Amino acid sequence: MAKGKSTTVFFCQSCGYESVKWMGQCPGCRQWNTFVEESVLTKSKETGGKKTGGLKSRPSALSEISLEEEDRITTRMQELDRVLGGGLVKGSLILVGGDPGIGKSTLLLQVCRNLAGDGREVLYVSGEESLKQIKIRANRIGEFNEHLKLLCETSLPAVEETIRNVKPDIVVIDSIQTMYHEGISSAPGSVSQVRESTGTFLQLAKGLNISIFIVGHVTKEGTVAGPRVLEHMVDTVLYFEGDRHASYRILRGVKNRFGSTNEIGVFEMEASGLREVMNPSEFMLSGKPEETSGSIVVCSIEGTRPMLIEIQALVCHSNFGIPRRQTIGTDFNRVNLLIAVLEKRLGMSLGNCDAYVNIAGGIKIQEPAVDLGIAMALASSFKNRIIDSKLIAIGEVGLSGEVRGVSMIQARVQEAKKLGFTACVIPYVCMESVKEIKGIKIIGVKTVADAIAYL
Ligand code: TYD
Ligand code: MG
Repeated sequence: MAKGKSTTVFFCQSCGYESVKWMGQCPGCRQWNTFVEESVLTKSKETGGKKTGGLKSRPSALSEISLEEEDRITTRMQELDRVLGGGLVKGSLILVGGDPGIGKSTLLLQVCRNLAGDGREVLYVSGEESLKQIKIRANRIGEFNEHLKLLCETSLPAVEETIRNVKPDIVVIDSIQTMYHEGISSAPGSVSQVRESTGTFLQLAKGLNISIFIVGHVTKEGTVAGPRVLEHMVDTVLYFEGDRHASYRILRGVKNRFGSTNEIGVFEMEASGLREVMNPSEFMLSGKPEETSGSIVVCSIEGTRPMLIEIQALVCHSNFGIPRRQTIGTDFNRVNLLIAVLEKRLGMSLGNCDAYVNIAGGIKIQEPAVDLGIAMALASSFKNRIIDSKLIAIGEVGLSGEVRGVSMIQARVQEAKKLGFTACVIPYVCMESVKEIKGIKIIGVKTVADAIAYL
């Protein structure tokens, strides 16, 4: 590109791939018809050029850097603090993504209330709702003090100026897709606009040492608009997920420069905003049916926390040539594999049966440690035998039907004990690690067949 010339570039609206010419299919993400022509802001290019020439940064010794700067601010929401890696880091940029209506604005308004309650200056910038609409929401949530300031604005330079003038400690931008810079001809929410806005907020966060939350809506493909562009620029990416029709919400860390990822925070949406769910296992198991076949409790590790989850399976005679297999909340291929293991290693003729597996509560689990539970639920439904409702199953299943060891077995068994379970089926190889745990019957199994013998 010639320097100083105003240019137009084509951006893939799905992944942010940049190209000088239009293309039907994006080479980056293989989506069709996603390229849109956008003009690039020449101003930022000029300053960008100058900066690299005249930047005066000195290298510093790692041992001389003090960690005081990275002090954490508590949001007074334990669930959120944990996902953030122990609180909010000053000068960090946090992206909160999620489907529309999932509760992003509600969560952040509650965070603002807590932080303002601690005497910090908070600025909530809304490009989506009017002051009155925010007030109506705030009334449902509770009391707010004068440290929280609201601003309804979509113009990026205006927001930037306000932040520089007000000098708040925490800023919330709701949402990044509504922010608009006049210097860029493309529409709000397009890749260039989102990239420009995020870049501006990144500079503000680092320059003024303030924490900025940005809300990003997720497109129907399941990613934040201009997603990769956004995700690599920010320090932390949190996704707020959950079934809109169920009341609980899960906040998941996807990227975190200041803590572990894959931590989750569990919330419940109530009439007065989001409530933290401190004991997700209890919550996930509420409403579990007693005395029915095909239902078993398993323990999955979510981040650093064990969580008990109910697995339901339904196996019934198929009326069609090709049996139906369906899974909700767990990996489809994994379930097919377990069905094959049951068929081959245990001689269960599931070939002419429909099989459905559901993770109750709508949560998604990927961990292989739930394999044994899924296999036992399938077998229980197939044989129509009830599994003891006080029994939990932990273990990974291999192709030859062996039950393999899993990590963090003690934490899992302790969690089961805490919630009143009386028996625990675990991999035989893990027996040694849990021999000190008393008050719960531990059954070590070597194969799926051994486990199913307990039904
Ligand atoms: P919202 O925070 O506006 O979602 P987002 O910003 O992610 O689009 O959440 C809106 C939903 O939450 C809406 O369907 C109503 C519900 N809600 C409650 O159930 N209780 C409440 O106290 C509030 C404020 C919202
Ligand atoms: Mg909102």
